[in-house]
Amino acid sequence: MSVDRPRPLVAGNWKMNGLRASARVLEEIHAGYTPGLRAKVELAVCPPATLIGHAAQLSVGSRVAIGGQDCHAKESGAFTGDLSAEMLADAGATYVIVGHSERRQYHKEKDQDVCAKAVAAHRAGLTAIVCVGETREEREAGKALAVVKKQLRGSVPVDSNSHNLVVAYEPVWAIGTGLTPTAADVAEVHAAIREELKRLVGKADAPKVRILYGGSVKPTNAAELMAVENVNGALVGGASLVAADFLGIAGAYLG
Ligand code: PGA
Repeated sequence: MSVDRPRPLVAGNWKMNGLRASARVLEEIHAGYTPGLRAKVELAVCPPATLIGHAAQLSVGSRVAIGGQDCHAKESGAFTGDLSAEMLADAGATYVIVGHSERRQYHKEKDQDVCAKAVAAHRAGLTAIVCVGETREEREAGKALAVVKKQLRGSVPVDSNSHNLVVAYEPVWAIGTGLTPTAADVAEVHAAIREELKRLVGKADAPKVRILYGGSVKPTNAAELMAVENVNGALVGGASLVAADFLGIAGAYLG
């Protein structure tokens, strides 16, 4: 194992799921985050914004990090319904997902919007989890690598480093579908992301940036996906709503 290999991160993206009663899921995750697992992998949960404060309070002492799922680029102002990165940090978040494909698709977010949000995350002291990934049409047209590299160049701010940036490769066609790319395809895209990161954060820091794979990660396929070169963890949607599944995915790192 290379000395540069970063500590893996398994992050749960709850999306628009979870009420106060979901604290139970978080408590189960805490209970299962044993010292043995903690030694191998970092865990984060990104609940809906309404639960961040409560989740952060519950997580004190458990070392499960809490994250937001989106933020506004501005610090404050007349933006009804939006939340700033500073608000997420104030509520106890240390991560925020930006540029998730559902934001890009349903809220028409472009790379420059995603970049501005990542800048805001850094300004607030948060680590930005910047999502990139091709659609099925783009993959079938042989454009997956070009699309991902372009998204990365447009979405990763210049002040990024291995502490404040995590990249998540999430092929759009794999999200919530039960489909996953082959290990070889994941390896190819993650290697391309690593190369691009050399230009974006510098040669010395690029090997330390966590590159997560996301899209239909389950306990049954996690070990294979997490073993792929340059895969430093997972961004998990559906399976993160069930503590046993989320912990089962993280358990891939127990070997
Ligand atoms: P999924 O979602 O694990 O349900 O496919 C992943 C994501 O959208 O982050």
